[in-house]
Amino acid sequence: MRIRKAVFPVAGLGTRFLPATKAMPKEMLTVVDKPIIQYAVEEALAAGIEQIIFVTGSGKGALEDHFDSDLELEKTLAERNKTDLLKSVKSLLHTSGNIVYTRQSEPLGLGHAIWCARDIVGDEPFAVLLADDLIRSEVPVLHQMIQEFERLRASMMAITEVSPEETGRYGIIEPGETSVGSVRVKSMVEKPDPQQAPSNLAAIGRYILTPRIFEYLGRNEKGAGGEIQLTDAMEKLLEEQPVFGFKFDGKRYDCGDKAGFQLANVAFALDRPELREVLLPKLKEMLC
Ligand code: G1P
Repeated sequence: MRIRKAVFPVAGLGTRFLPATKAMPKEMLTVVDKPIIQYAVEEALAAGIEQIIFVTGSGKGALEDHFDSDLELEKTLAERNKTDLLKSVKSLLHTSGNIVYTRQSEPLGLGHAIWCARDIVGDEPFAVLLADDLIRSEVPVLHQMIQEFERLRASMMAITEVSPEETGRYGIIEPGETSVGSVRVKSMVEKPDPQQAPSNLAAIGRYILTPRIFEYLGRNEKGAGGEIQLTDAMEKLLEEQPVFGFKFDGKRYDCGDKAGFQLANVAFALDRPELREVLLPKLKEMLC
């Protein structure tokens, strides 16, 4: 079955970026001139996703407005012949109804956020994208994963190597059999101390999940940090169905972290010829 739906958990408070996120959703923080959530949505649409499911919380109105048409703004830009700007503000989602919002009314964790989308997803495999993980790649990472899914027909998540002292920030896998693009996951643990970590291979915020995951998410069992963790549900799932880690082509920036977010801004700005020309000499000057 094709992957048609993608879930975007966007209910987080973004406390790491306060005060910037006091009155603005953290997913609306911009890398160059686009909110980080837009990069993730564009990635999903480029991978053929047809339905965008946002799991939101209170105070996320700006996010909803961002993905809607703003007819007044469009009219003004058209009258002023600002064609490029007009193109950039037109809604990415051309067909009404292919964006759905549901609410996570309590902050019970990532696993719980995904579970909140269960009725909208229904009985089909689906994608999950965490906007904090911004990935610069030639082929959108979700597209790479969907191709691998067509081969493996199993749940998977993007993985990357992290330094051993960082394991406490990620879901970490115990790798089994390895093939070209993927590694079979033997077990998974959420945010282990370096001494307990089964490897330094970390889950990154791109997942393809079979609907069976909802069974385990719905058990409401609390894990690391007292939260309902996706990693714990996947650990249960893999006793029943194969789960794979996918080694993607691309460079990932952790936009949930101040340093990672700044690096993403520099990297994505240097990709734009007009900005590169101005920035490169100045950055070099700063580093000397
Ligand atoms: C979440 C997941 C974790 C994963 C990480 C990737 O953690 O729980 O398993 O490794 O995303 O970014 P969070 O960053 O929400 O703490």
